[in-house]
Amino acid sequence: MSVAAVGTWARSLGPVPSLACSSCRAPGEFAKPEKLAKAAPASDRRFSAAVTVGISAFFFLRHGGRGGNTGRRGRLSALQSESGRRSESEVIAEVLPPELELSSDVGSSELSSESEPSADSLRGGETFNWHKAWYPMAVVADLDPKRPSKLELLGEDLVAWRDGEGQWRVFEDRCLHRNVPLSEGRVESDGTLMCSYHGWRFDGTGRVTAIPQAKEGDLHRLLDNPRACAAARPTQLKNGVLWVWGESSADSELESALVEPNCPEELSDPALEGRAACAVWSHRDMPYGWEVAFENVTDPAHVAVTHHNIVSDRYKDPCPIEIDWVRKPSNMGGFKFQYKPLKKKTEDGVVTTMDFRPPCQMHIKSSYPSGASLTLLINYVPTKPGWSRLVGSTMTVLGEKGEKPPGFALYSAPIPRWLVHLLGPAFLHQDQVFLHFQQSILQKETLKTGKSWKQSYWIPTAVDKGTVMLRNWLDRNGGISWNPAVSQDLSSALPDKRSLFDTYHFHTEKCATCQKALKRVSRIHGALKYSAIILASAGVSGGPCWPLLAAAAVLGLGTGAASKLKGMFHEVPFHHQDNN
Ligand code: FES
Ligand SMILES: [Fe+2]
Repeated sequence: MSVAAVGTWARSLGPVPSLACSSCRAPGEFAKPEKLAKAAPASDRRFSAAVTVGISAFFFLRHGGRGGNTGRRGRLSALQSESGRRSESEVIAEVLPPELELSSDVGSSELSSESEPSADSLRGGETFNWHKAWYPMAVVADLDPKRPSKLELLGEDLVAWRDGEGQWRVFEDRCLHRNVPLSEGRVESDGTLMCSYHGWRFDGTGRVTAIPQAKEGDLHRLLDNPRACAAARPTQLKNGVLWVWGESSADSELESALVEPNCPEELSDPALEGRAACAVWSHRDMPYGWEVAFENVTDPAHVAVTHHNIVSDRYKDPCPIEIDWVRKPSNMGGFKFQYKPLKKKTEDGVVTTMDFRPPCQMHIKSSYPSGASLTLLINYVPTKPGWSRLVGSTMTVLGEKGEKPPGFALYSAPIPRWLVHLLGPAFLHQDQVFLHFQQSILQKETLKTGKSWKQSYWIPTAVDKGTVMLRNWLDRNGGISWNPAVSQDLSSALPDKRSLFDTYHFHTEKCATCQKALKRVSRIHGALKYSAIILASAGVSGGPCWPLLAAAAVLGLGTGAASKLKGMFHEVPFHHQDNN
C-alpha cells in the first residue's frame, strides 16, 4: 500500500452512524452497545452491574493484594494517594488481577457498561488452529518465475517456485535427500525444481523425477518409493496473491479445500463487480512480530502522533477516540469495531471500521453515504518469532451512482509498481523502530519480573480497547503456534537502529519488480554521471564553455536525484527526533 493510501484513510475518519436496521447487518454483527444498553430495563442493568462487581470481587479476594488482608478498596486508596490526579477507574484498570479480562475494564466509561462485549465470549469452544488456515505469502507479479523464492511461515521454511505448467508451487524448503534448502536450487527448463547439491529433480506435485546417481535398473523402483516426494503445501492464487496453507499433511488438500482464504469482499463480491478496484499490492518483511504488528493496527490513536507530517500533526491531532464494537469477538471470527476521534471534524455519515480476520488480516474501511468506500487491507503474516511479512493493498469501491471515494484518482493512477513499493517505507518506518524494540522490551520485562502484558502495560484510557481485545484473542487461542524448533527469544534486538532501515534486505532483494527497477535506475545514474563528467571536462578544456558547463550542471542534478532514488532501494532512514 502507498503512503497516500494510508494518508487518505487516516484523513477520512467518519462519525459513527446511527443504529443500523437489523436487516442491513452482516451475520454475527450487532448494534451499537450504548443503544442496546439504553434499551435494556434498568433492573437488568443493575443486575448485570452487580454480577460484574461480584466477579471482580471474587477474583480480587482470591488472587488479590500482596498484603493478604489488604482489600481492593485499600489497594485503590493506596494507589490513588500515590497520584492525586488519577481517577478511581484508572487505578481499577491498573490493579485488576491478571485473571480478569481487561477488555471490559479499560477506561472509565467502560467500567459499568454491561453491554460491552467481553473476552468471555472467547472462552470455551474451538480455538483457532493456525495450521489449518490460508496465508497470503507473496505477490505473484513480484516473484521471479526463473528462480525459487524462500518463504517463511509460522517458523517453517518454505520455497515457492513456478512449475512447467505455470502453476505456483510451495514446498517445505528441504531436499528429502540430505536436507539442503531447495530454495538454493534451480528452476530448470523442463519445468522441474532441481536441488543444487546432487541434482535430484522435483515436479510440481513434489514427486522426484530424476536421481542422477541412481543406476538405470534401480531408477524406476526408487522413483516409485513413497518417500520420493517433497512435502508440498496447498496453494491458491487470488487477485494476484499467492496463498499458502498452514501445514503439509496427508489431509491438507482435503482440509484446505473446505476453507476459503480471507479475500476481501471488495474483490470477491459479485455485486461490486465493475465498481471495485484494487491498487498495487505491496509486500515487505518487517522486523517485528505478528503480536506488536496487530497491536499497532488495532490502535487508531497512534496515527495522530506517530505519522506526524505525513497524515497528522502530533501536537494538534491526538484526542480521545470513541470505539464501538460491531462484531462480537470470537476465536474463529476475530472482531470488528468502528471508531471516531472525538475532536476531529469528520464528514457526515462516514463510518470507519477495523475488522480483524484471523489469522492475519486487518481490514480498515471507510464507508461513505453514497455507497463508495475506501479500504486499507493489511495482512501481517507470522513468518517467524519477532518477524512478520506485510502484504497489503488499497481498494476503492464506487458509489451506486458512480460516486468516487476520496483518493480515487490517486489509486487509479498508473503509478509504477516499483515506485509504490519504494515510497512505502516513508510511512512504515515511522512505526518500525519502536515496534521492533517494543517486543524485545516486553519479553525482557516478562522474563525479569514474570509480568504478562496485562500487568506490564498500563492502559488507563478506552482508546486501547482494540489492542486489549487483540491480545486477549491471542491469549485465548494459546498464542501463535510456531514450529517448536525455532527460538522465540526476542530479547536480542537487531544490533543497531540503522539495520532497521535496510530496505534492500526487507524488500528489494525479494521483489523481482524492484530488482529490475533498481537495475534501470543504476544504469540511468551511471549514464548521467559519466555524461556530466564528459560535458564538464569538455566545458573547461581550452577555456570555459558556459553552455557545456550548464548542461553538465543539469546532468549533475539529475545524477544526484538518481543517486537518491537508487539509495532508497537500499536504505530509508527515519528518526522521529528529526521529524519536526
Ligand atoms: S541434498 Fe538434494 S539432491 Fe542431495
Ligand atoms: Fe518491490
